[in-house]
Amino acid sequence: MRLADKPASGTELSAWLAAEVVDTGRPWSLVTMDESMLPLVAAVECSSHPHPWGPGHFRDSIAAGYWCQLLVTPSQPGDPSAWGDAPRLADGRLLLAYLVAMPGYLETHLLNITTVPLHRRQGCARLLLEALQAWSRLQGAEWLWLEVRASNEGARSLYEAIGFCQVGRRRDYYPADGGQREDAVVMSLALLPADPAIEAETEGAA
Ligand SMILES: CC(C)(COP(=O)(O)OP(=O)(O)OC[C@H]1O[C@@H](n2cnc3c(N)ncnc32)[C@H](O)[C@@H]1OP(=O)(O)O)[C@@H](O)C(=O)NCCC(=O)NCCS
Repeated sequence: MRLADKPASGTELSAWLAAEVVDTGRPWSLVTMDESMLPLVAAVECSSHPHPWGPGHFRDSIAAGYWCQLLVTPSQPGDPSAWGDAPRLADGRLLLAYLVAMPGYLETHLLNITTVPLHRRQGCARLLLEALQAWSRLQGAEWLWLEVRASNEGARSLYEAIGFCQVGRRRDYYPADGGQREDAVVMSLALLPADPAIEAETEGAA
C-alpha cells in the first residue's frame, strides 16, 4: 500500500506504517480509543501527568471526532517479566502509548501523547508521532502544532528529535502545583507533502 492509496481506518494505517515507514522488530497496531478503554487510559494518564486529563476529556475528544489512538502490541515469550503487570486491553494486548489529536484547517493539533511508564524510551512516542504525521498528511494537513509545559524537558526533547521547532510561548498557560501557573512552549512541524509523482498518478486516475 502507498500513501496515495489513502488508508482511511486505523487498521489500514497500521498496516501501511508497518509496511512502509517503520520496522520496530515486533508486531504492533493502532487501535481507535473507545469508551470501554477509558478506565485503562485514565489510569495511565494519572501515573504520567502532574495535572492529568480525566475520563471526561477523553470522552469529549472521542465524541468530537478527534483522532484518538492507542499503540498496542501482543505479548511475546521474550518480554521482560516486569511487563506481566503492564496495562492491557480486554483482549490481552499490551497498551504501549496513546495520543489524541484535533484535526483543523490545513493543520493538526496534538492534544495529548503519553507512553506507559514501563514502555518509555523504546520508541513508542516516536512511532505514534510517525503515524500522526502520516494520518495528518492524508487529511490534507500541512502543519502539526502542539503546546508543552516549559518544564517538561523529556517531551521537549522528544519533539525536537522528531523535528518540531519552538515558535512561541504562552504565558501561564497551564495550572501548576500550589495554585501557580506555568508557561507553555508552542511548537510546530511542517509536514512534507506526499510524493508529487504519486499525487499526480492519483489525480490522473480520479
Ligand atoms: C514524553 C513521552 C511521551 C516520551 O515517550 P517515549 O515513548 O518514552 O519516547 P520515545 O522512546 O519514542 O523517544 C524518542 C526520542 O525522544 C527523546 N526523548 C524521549 N523521552 C526523553 C526523555 N525523558 N529525556 C530526553 N529525551 C527524551 C529521545 O531523543 C528519544 O530517542 P532515544 O531514546 O533514542 O534517545 C513520555 O516520557 C511520557 O509519556 N511522558 C509523560 C507524559 C508527557 O509528558 N507527555 C507529553 C505532554 S506534551
